[in-house]
Amino acid sequence: MIHATHIEKYYEKLQVLKGVDLHIKKGEIVSIVGASGAGKTTLLQILGTLDRPAVVPQTTLMINGQDILKLNDKELSAFRNLNLGFIFQFHQLLPEFTALENICIPAFIAGKEKKETEKEARKLLEYLGISHREKHFPSELSGGEQQRVAVARALINKPEIIFADEPSGNLDTHTAENLHRLFFKLRDEFGQTFVIVTHNEELANMADRKLTMVDGLIQSPDYTVINDAVTI
Ligand SMILES: Nc1ncnc2c1ncn2[C@@H]1O[C@H](COP(=O)(O)OP(=O)(O)OP(=O)(O)O)[C@@H](O)[C@H]1O
Ligand SMILES: [Mg+2]
Repeated sequence: MIHATHIEKYYEKLQVLKGVDLHIKKGEIVSIVGASGAGKTTLLQILGTLDRPAVVPQTTLMINGQDILKLNDKELSAFRNLNLGFIFQFHQLLPEFTALENICIPAFIAGKEKKETEKEARKLLEYLGISHREKHFPSELSGGEQQRVAVARALINKPEIIFADEPSGNLDTHTAENLHRLFFKLRDEFGQTFVIVTHNEELANMADRKLTMVDGLIQSPDYTVINDAVTI
């Protein structure tokens, strides 16, 4: 599902990623842990096609059969909208739209029908325990509620791959557990693939594989099998 070889990234002269290799199979839930500043968010942004790696001959990035490095910005946006979902700690909901509308936007962009989309959105709101907030605007929601709206928005198009950066960072224990259960339920029902950056040890250890980033590289050996006999 994701084949990345030799991903490098520099910010000015600072090398943040030093040639990361990563292979993730369809339906896998992979967690990425590591110290602050190790490069986790940077890697996730590149895998999520929101940022580009340094131009190095040996770099490759294939996602869902698509050679990402060959796409222009417009093609990348279309690819993202249909294939990828994002859950970030800073969730950037659109302030002038209600919770329900925020969730529906990616589906409308993909040309999906209104009634069906709203039905799906309400299902997600219910699962995440925020049905009673559907008509509220982001400014009227708590941080945790905004987070859950952002999660629902990431899931509305049933993307093949979901990238999450500290998805439960703002949530209480109960809501965080619910969210983590949702990830596994989705994987079991729809075969979705998850790449989750987290400082939450419990979530990290629930994954099929836990990868540790150290100073711009995935620590060697580059995988730890937790729940499954996963081989790369
Ligand atoms: N836009 C940027 N410009 C310059 N340096 C950056 C930029 N974004 C990140 N960095 C630097 O790159 C390094 C890796 O950052 P990154 O955000 O990937 O870390 P992280 O592993 O996600 O850390 P955390 O656990 O704190 O979120 C850090 O040293 C950071 O300061
Ligand atoms: Mg980060």
